[in-house]
Amino acid sequence: MIAVTYSMRSVIYVRFDLILMLIKSKLVIYRLFALSVIIAVPLHSKAQNSPPNGEALYMSRCSSCHLANGEGITGVFPTLNEVDWVTGDKGRLIRIVLDGVMGEIQVGDMVYTGIMPPWKTFLNDQEMAALLTYIRSAWDNDASPVSEHEVRLVRQVTSDRTQAWTMKELEEMSNQGIPDSLDLNSLPINSTHSN
Ligand code: HEC
Repeated sequence: MIAVTYSMRSVIYVRFDLILMLIKSKLVIYRLFALSVIIAVPLHSKAQNSPPNGEALYMSRCSSCHLANGEGITGVFPTLNEVDWVTGDKGRLIRIVLDGVMGEIQVGDMVYTGIMPPWKTFLNDQEMAALLTYIRSAWDNDASPVSEHEVRLVRQVTSDRTQAWTMKELEEMSNQGIPDSLDLNSLPINSTHSN
């Protein structure tokens, strides 16, 4: 929020400054410069507010291990292409990316025993939704999008977690799916309407 307020303030400041320059300056070249910046600044600030790009996030956060084509490196980093961990249950996928996964995990015909790092402190709900929507439909994948709301709900129910998931835990139904609504669970019992 601070960044947004700051950039909006500077946009107004820059524009005011340049409008004066546009009116006062006798040199055509300065007038043209002022005009071009006045037009460019709002365009630039609009680009900053645009929604996160899932593909760009994948390239910067995940492709170092899983590679740009999602295939990973056999035996070291598992593939994200055409595997149920990615295209199957969304709740399980969100959990994997929020807190990471460690120990034996079967992906296709291979069993991996590495460590997948947690991302919950590096990606907000909107970024995570864009990223997961991207990997669920990239390459040969063709699965439904993940919404910001779904990420938020899973993040809230798993907020106490401090270590990576194991495959065994992720096979349990209680560690899958998107919770319906948290507000009901987080309400104190005496606040429920009796009638
Ligand atoms: C430092 C390397 C590394 C990075 C970076 C990384 N992963 Fe992983 N990932 C792994 C490893 C290793 C495993 C397997 C863990 C195991 O053996 O228990 C894995 C497993 C997974 C799995 C489950 C298995 C599968 O292949 O479907 C998913 C899903 C996944 N990663 C998604 C991601 C996403 C999304 C990102 C980016 C936000 C990411 N990973 C970044 C190393 C990495």
